[in-house]
Amino acid sequence: MKSDFLDFQAQTTPHPLGVEVVSAEGSYIYAKDGTQYLDFVAGVSACGLGHRHPKVIEAIKNQLDQYMHVMVYGEYIQSPAVEFTKLLAEQLPEPLSQTYLVNSGTEAIDGAMKLARRATGRSQIIAAKKCYHGNSYGALSLMDYEERVAPFRPLVGDITHLQFNTETCFDIITEQTAAVILETIQGGAGFILPQNDYLKKVKQRCEEVGALLILDEIQPGFGRTGKLFGFQHFDVVPDILVLGKAMASGLPVGAFTASKALMGLLSDSPKLGHITTFGGNPVIASACKATLEVLLSTTIIQDVDHKEKLFRELLQHDLIEEVRGKGLMLAPLFKSDEIANYLVLEAKNRGLILFWLLYETKAVRISPPLTISEEEITKGCGIIIDILNEYSKHKKAE
Ligand SMILES: Cc1ncc(COP(=O)(O)O)c(C=O)c1O
Repeated sequence: MKSDFLDFQAQTTPHPLGVEVVSAEGSYIYAKDGTQYLDFVAGVSACGLGHRHPKVIEAIKNQLDQYMHVMVYGEYIQSPAVEFTKLLAEQLPEPLSQTYLVNSGTEAIDGAMKLARRATGRSQIIAAKKCYHGNSYGALSLMDYEERVAPFRPLVGDITHLQFNTETCFDIITEQTAAVILETIQGGAGFILPQNDYLKKVKQRCEEVGALLILDEIQPGFGRTGKLFGFQHFDVVPDILVLGKAMASGLPVGAFTASKALMGLLSDSPKLGHITTFGGNPVIASACKATLEVLLSTTIIQDVDHKEKLFRELLQHDLIEEVRGKGLMLAPLFKSDEIANYLVLEAKNRGLILFWLLYETKAVRISPPLTISEEEITKGCGIIIDILNEYSKHKKAE
């Protein structure tokens, strides 16, 4: 299987982790070689309810028995998408009331960029340095990481960058600006939180010049930070909210939400201003609805705070400089990328899944299922501390 994986399935790196999965349940992934992996990554924040949450599986199965794809997005009334978008709107502040469902996060970002340009009649989009919003051309073009974008030029035009958390950059937001797009919490950059009302101030500046604020909640969304959405911690409401990952508990999905007036622009002048075949797919929308219902009817989100505290208590070690992030979106930062690398690979050998961050190579991603138990947190952190102790011992002996 491994050689077929390498021969037939296109690869993203020359050194994939290569766990051969046979099943997954709760906080565990089970591999062909018999290893049980405790999952501290949750499919990169996509499995917020853990693997195969029974309510989600039930909803998917029920929907499979009714119908799957019947028509392109937007033409027929399909109850899973209608009920989910309504339930979502009920959780969101004004003016976020209409949601466009798509197939991935990056596609939702592209949709939000299109909507901002269409709504303002302006072309400039301002993104943050070290942002990550996805890999389709629109989202890729938002990146300022030359090494990653250079081979793919020309990119989508009229995109500039500001420094996250830096107010002195605000004068680049002008009457030419269609939108400022930010991750509510910068993910790939190392789980960087907005400081000193930064997001609120960006929103104010956008309002002054008639630009829109787009917040990418693809990672913090759906409970990961201890509130349903990350922006709810920061006293700000975006004009366009972008969602994905955990929204469907492990099925491919993305969405962008705005006011009805704004969103309506995509259906007119030109008509069919944004279309998709599979967006709003009934099976996936039923998983979205079940996911949101579980989050709303349990204490999973409220429990995030004390789980974060437990992680922070347990992740204390001389080699850990700080633990960045919020809720169950945590990133221990080390003195060197060598330690971070060693930890990810050695943890895998010991049955614990950890992962890297895109830009911050000295940090390690911890984004477990929100449903993870205290015992599992304790067990996984124990493995991390053991590895760091052994690393320190080896280094001293050298
Ligand atoms: C903040 C953020 N935005 C956008 C994306 C892109 O989402 P997708 O991979 O579903 O296209 C990701 C994926 O990691 C992300 O973390």
